[in-house]
Amino acid sequence: MGITHRTWQEWESFFEQRSYRRLPALEQDLDYSALPTSLARSLAIFQLGESGGGTIVAQSFCNSLPGLDDHFGTSMAYFVEEEHRHANILAMCVRLLGGKLIRDNWTAKLFVFARRLIGLRLKVVVLLAAEVVGLCYYHLLAVHLPRSRLRDQLLDIVDDERSHLYFHCDFLRAQTASRFKKRVFVAVWRSVMVCAALVVAIDHRNAIKELEIGLKPVLARWRTYSRLAETLVVADSQAVCPKARELPTN
Ligand SMILES: [Fe+2]
Ligand SMILES: [Fe+2]
Repeated sequence: MGITHRTWQEWESFFEQRSYRRLPALEQDLDYSALPTSLARSLAIFQLGESGGGTIVAQSFCNSLPGLDDHFGTSMAYFVEEEHRHANILAMCVRLLGGKLIRDNWTAKLFVFARRLIGLRLKVVVLLAAEVVGLCYYHLLAVHLPRSRLRDQLLDIVDDERSHLYFHCDFLRAQTASRFKKRVFVAVWRSVMVCAALVVAIDHRNAIKELEIGLKPVLARWRTYSRLAETLVVADSQAVCPKARELPTN
């Protein structure tokens, strides 16, 4: 998706168009029993993470932050719906793999705790880190799976997450107009991103190892997308477009 910046009204219609998608039918098209059980567990953890997000919609409508309007609040509501759609798809994937859904997990708890810490801005920074971590991880899982409906679904989710990254970056860009605010953002963003990468690498180490993904490619991809997000938030408009186009799209 070759977008860089959109107005909130454009984001609203973008999300609205996607909101009519139906849930895919995920039937057993392949024998998944040869895949490690750590894959189902890994997806169950992400499924839990994709299920939250209640208070952010209300906060998106009622706040005094600069550069926002009601279209932003509606876009955020569509965004949360889209994450819930991911949760439903991942739940189907977990069942297809013979795994069980979970209700509790320490990394999911940590992300929820961090999101609740203070206002909307920090919440979006944490969400952005979750997008970077999630989209890179889903992509690497997908390319290490045989051709299947499961793999296609993960790649579809990656496409959605990529647009979420641009959506959150547009919000953070509007909140970091001054040089000082940009510096604060970069410091906070890098710290949050390192923490997110660390906890996910630890919690998903078995799937990373058993699917032979390797930690190095995971870390390299996280670094690339983390830099993309940082550039989209703090760089000059002219610098953003060519830079963003250079980054991997698959
Ligand atoms: Fe998602
Ligand atoms: Fe997302």
